Amino acid sequence: MKLLCHLEDIPDRDARGFEFHGETLVVVRQGDEVFVYRNQCPHLGIELNFQPDVFLDSDGEFIQCANHGALFRIEDGYCLAGPCSGQSLETIAHELRGNEIHVQA
Ligand code: FES
Repeated sequence: MKLLCHLEDIPDRDARGFEFHGETLVVVRQGDEVFVYRNQCPHLGIELNFQPDVFLDSDGEFIQCANHGALFRIEDGYCLAGPCSGQSLETIAHELRGNEIHVQA
């Protein structure tokens, strides 16, 4: 596991993208819980976002792909609607150690 960032780097109920060993990871924060995914939509295998750090829908309820609007559950990355419905984002193993977010290198 390697240090990726700190909890306070991510506003609560929002998401941030981080470059990590040549790829982009998406970290979504809900209070003291975080969810980490590879920034790659299962539909076309491209990045989810157009704008930096914009990964959630307007209500902050789902991760939304900016390309064709696929919606993913924040909790497990499962796609509920869109062209890759039934598929999932790739989860990145992580640990919260105090306020440090460590991910599998
Ligand atoms: S690339 Fe994500 S919905 Fe098409």
